[in-house]
Amino acid sequence: MSIQLVEHPLIRHYLGRARDLRTSCTEFADLIERIASLMVPTVTANLETEAYEVETPLEQMRAYRLARPLMLVPILRAGLGMVDGFSRLLPTAAVAHLGLYRNEETLEPVVYYKKLPASLARHELIVLDPMLATGGTACAAISYLKERQAARLRFVCVLAAPEGVEQLSRCHPDVPIIGAAMDRELNSQGYILPGLGDAGDRIFGTMFSSDEG
Ligand code: URA
Repeated sequence: MSIQLVEHPLIRHYLGRARDLRTSCTEFADLIERIASLMVPTVTANLETEAYEVETPLEQMRAYRLARPLMLVPILRAGLGMVDGFSRLLPTAAVAHLGLYRNEETLEPVVYYKKLPASLARHELIVLDPMLATGGTACAAISYLKERQAARLRFVCVLAAPEGVEQLSRCHPDVPIIGAAMDRELNSQGYILPGLGDAGDRIFGTMFSSDEG
């Protein structure tokens, strides 16, 4: 099992604020976005580049550009909270949405929403979900993307539980996992401890909703 943690004083500072139950939803959403932004250099550090010739105002030279198109894949709904933080530094990245729910009878994750190109073979995919808890959704999302020929994927979360990292590493050992912090464990409801609560509810201000999983 392995996760690359992005160590940065600002991330530690913002994460502390995000964990605090007194932090407002507006500030919480802002903090998740800022943490996401601070993670971008590490998440993209090993993207392949290719050389090309460019004319500067003075002469011709060899420059570099990303070798493949980037695609952000936020897992609905909490993953949306990380998109702006990534898009600010990766403005040309397409954003493909993926929504999954857990079937109450089979307990299997089911894709209920997708907006993706038919083939993902050309893309570098950055899958976004702030919370890697049991790992079930992350595994299913990545399996789904691989069925669409995704070959280059990385999974980015803010907080991870050891259980989620283990599960995701087991089902997709080829997919790097990058996070801002790893917490202690999951509770019996699948929440990360000490965690920060329900990230989707805190981003979207729906702390009292009881009609969705
Ligand atoms: N999803 C969340 O939003 N929070 C958790 O603690 C676990 C999963």
